[in-house]
Amino acid sequence: QLGDFEHFMLKEINEQPLALENAFRGRLNMSEGTCKFGGLNLSRKNIRQIDRILIVACGTAWHSGLVGEYLIEKYSRIPVEVEYASEFRYRNAPMDKNTLVIVISQSGETIDTLEAQREAQRKGYHVIGIINNVGSTIARENDGGIYQHSGPEIGVASTKAFTSQLLILSMLSVYLGRTRDLSYADGCQMVEAIRTLPKLVEQTLELGEEIQSIAKAYAKNKDFLFLGRLEMFPIALEGALKLKEISYIHAEGYPAAEMKHGPIALISEDCPSIVIVPDDETLKKNLSSVQEVRARKGKVIIITDSYDIPAHLADEIITVPKSHNCVRPILMTIPLQLLSYYIAVELGRDVDKPRNLAKSVTVE
Ligand code: M6R
Repeated sequence: QLGDFEHFMLKEINEQPLALENAFRGRLNMSEGTCKFGGLNLSRKNIRQIDRILIVACGTAWHSGLVGEYLIEKYSRIPVEVEYASEFRYRNAPMDKNTLVIVISQSGETIDTLEAQREAQRKGYHVIGIINNVGSTIARENDGGIYQHSGPEIGVASTKAFTSQLLILSMLSVYLGRTRDLSYADGCQMVEAIRTLPKLVEQTLELGEEIQSIAKAYAKNKDFLFLGRLEMFPIALEGALKLKEISYIHAEGYPAAEMKHGPIALISEDCPSIVIVPDDETLKKNLSSVQEVRARKGKVIIITDSYDIPAHLADEIITVPKSHNCVRPILMTIPLQLLSYYIAVELGRDVDKPRNLAKSVTVE
């Protein structure tokens, strides 16, 4: 049911506070500064023996895996690799004995992800899933997992399922970290950041009108660049994918510092850059990327949680609430979802059923 919303995508964007709460309900252990999961089927001893994690997924779920790589490596200190499921299943890459495989899929029916899971299981690896669709084929066949409980996602462009995957990966990084060497104090801070996230998401959603007017001003552009560093790089990729999928505008995501190795040639008055600028140790570097774009007459939209960015540095500044690093990618995603949604609406696109795309890809 659409209720008051014009499209399922907008409804699902607005459902994110609840979807996130559903993802952490019953899974936070405040007193021990950790998270708990019922169905991983891994003992603490098993977890201490993991030498490597391989995350396998497609599309938006692959982007959440890339953010997961940063989170798990940072908080659990376990090396992580992320592969497209379609590549993994045919590549026969050598793997370490003590590798944990994580598959991520909203639908739980994506054929490439399912076959990648079967391939990993055939070789004896323990595969856990982060899945939204309860009882789906991937969920039924894996060795353990975490359900997202985001509720049905109807819009072809994934929104609430993506941010819920990010939250679960953040919780998983706390759990793995606390089973290895994340401190009690750090664990407590992260758990508190997760618990209070839905309120911050609600505040971020209030940016809707501001973003709608920015979307109107930029909808005529034919190319966009999305830039971010570290865990904001996959968020840039996701922003570009959202825009491509529903508005059919060409968009590319890049790590901000890679711009000078090629994509900078694209920059002109007609190719705006959307730069994600978190208030952290990358801030100055990101602002120098912004200046490189501006020096070439490129328009810049900054998405930030810093209150100190001089207004003259960008054409538009969208400010989200401040948050802990472990949940910040979620807050940075929401303006990108709204921007692509309103641009697609402005262009009269079929937002919920974009051309050539299906909600779940069950062909190879
Ligand atoms: O159901 P899955 O998460 O396995 O789907 C994977 C991709 O097909 C999916 O994320 C696709 O990229 C979406 N249309 C993104 O919005």
